[in-house]
Amino acid sequence: MPTQEVLSAQDHGLYTTSTGAPVAEPYAAQRIGLTGPLLLQDFHHIDLLAHFDRERIPERVVHAKGAGAHGVFKVTHDITDLSCASLFSKVGNEAPLTIRFSTVGGESGSADTARDPRGFAVKIKTDQGNLDWVFNNTPVFFIRDPAKFPHFIHTQKRDPQTHLKDADMFWDYLSQNPESIHQVMILFSDRGTPDGFYMHGYSGHTLKFVNADGNFHYVQIHLRREGGARSLDNDTAVKLGGTNPDYATEQLFTEIELGKFPTWNVFVQTMSAQQAEKFRYNILDLTKIWPHKEFPLRPVGQIVLNKNVQNYFAEIEQAAFSPSHLVPGVEPSADPVLQSRLFSYPDTHRHRLGTNYGQLPVNAPVAPVANFQRDGAMAFNNQGFRPNYQSSLSPLQYKRKPYQDVKHEIWLGDANTDLSFITELDFEQPRALWEKVFNETDKEHFVYNVAGHLGGVKSPVVKARQLSVFTAVSKDLGERLAKAINHAPVAPLKVKSASEAVRFQFKAAA
Ligand code: HEM
Repeated sequence: MPTQEVLSAQDHGLYTTSTGAPVAEPYAAQRIGLTGPLLLQDFHHIDLLAHFDRERIPERVVHAKGAGAHGVFKVTHDITDLSCASLFSKVGNEAPLTIRFSTVGGESGSADTARDPRGFAVKIKTDQGNLDWVFNNTPVFFIRDPAKFPHFIHTQKRDPQTHLKDADMFWDYLSQNPESIHQVMILFSDRGTPDGFYMHGYSGHTLKFVNADGNFHYVQIHLRREGGARSLDNDTAVKLGGTNPDYATEQLFTEIELGKFPTWNVFVQTMSAQQAEKFRYNILDLTKIWPHKEFPLRPVGQIVLNKNVQNYFAEIEQAAFSPSHLVPGVEPSADPVLQSRLFSYPDTHRHRLGTNYGQLPVNAPVAPVANFQRDGAMAFNNQGFRPNYQSSLSPLQYKRKPYQDVKHEIWLGDANTDLSFITELDFEQPRALWEKVFNETDKEHFVYNVAGHLGGVKSPVVKARQLSVFTAVSKDLGERLAKAINHAPVAPLKVKSASEAVRFQFKAAA
């Protein structure tokens, strides 16, 4: 917090109306006589109240509770064979960035330590425009069919009647949509309650990097916290939720103030179109990971958070991150959930912040904007005298080489009503987590964490159905959970065989 002397030096210490006119007494209001009604002529008083009445903007419909800071992206390794983005054109390149971390389901005042995935949103201001990475701290997600998103989110929020969070709603959804099980396995391990923002970040989705020759690779991006990820156990997280709900926000701010700058190393996993065709899983299904053994991490750069905000609302609350804010050389894949998100974020920004959200200082690119978008509410950068139509004085247009390998991405077909279904493939990676990744302590914590939540479900049908999903992951897991919630063991959920799974579908043209 700046001292009184610093503040006074900055703003001359003179109290004014919003039009800059000095006012003698901030607390005073004009009225008739000593006890009469107030006067409409008192601009100061009306200015004060009218602005106060409009102080709130809609909180984010998801990820409402968050914290953030500024920093820098440094390119540490050459990836020009992968991407032609100018950011990556030279080792040593740097670009300023803003980050926002968040929980997903809670309101803006909710606890930082809630069991929830964490959002990990980065806005990198490159000389070719903003590159936003709107990631989570988990490499997979609950859904792969985008129309399920509002349903899923509603079940994590409040019941329409009781206005309470509801374990029945929560597990009713998850047990009916078992493609969520991989994310559920991560969420109910201690990774579901990270210690502050000591966590990794993952694109989850497959993206595309395109190089200067027009060749593309599929990529997954990983941001790995230096010093490793840390977790809280359930009881510590719950306790902190009551005693210090802003635990992570405070930790982030304090560390940066102390000069202990949080750092992440940036990596990519890459896959050629040919490898994608042979991969066991659909690369457009974000309930799956790409095994590191087959697709090793390749270093790219580093993110260092070295600057706290001066004003939270202006620099973090008004930040508008979108997976569609991309630069040449970085492109979306056809993952339907990602495709949906490309629309949803700018749409919600127009609602939450207004048409010209992109001109707010935190969102404005460092690259000059030259287009034909004009006017609208709060147009700060209206592009001066530049023509507002494609005239002979119009800006130059960017040229990029056409794709070399387009045959892998030619889309032909009828309008198709697409919905995924569950197969044995959906249980392989969750099973590996239980059997190979979790040690005995992790297993005990997992059973304890799930039992504390699932045990509160009232509906016997929902309870049994979710147990059948866990039993399909592993008989051992199903039995341990049934015992922990005083339920009889249940049979595993019946699913289609792996051979019926819809794999990566766009084969090279014959
Ligand atoms: C169909 C699927 C999804 C939809 C429709 C969706 C929609 C939204 C919306 C509307 C917001 C609020 C944005 C704002 O007000 O600025 C949001 C925030 C966010 N979403 Fe998603 N989301 C989806 C899936 C995902 C996935 C898969 C990830 C991560 C891989 C993700 C990560 C985030 C993050 C990090 C934020 C917070 C951004 C910030 O800090 O401002 N979302 N999402």
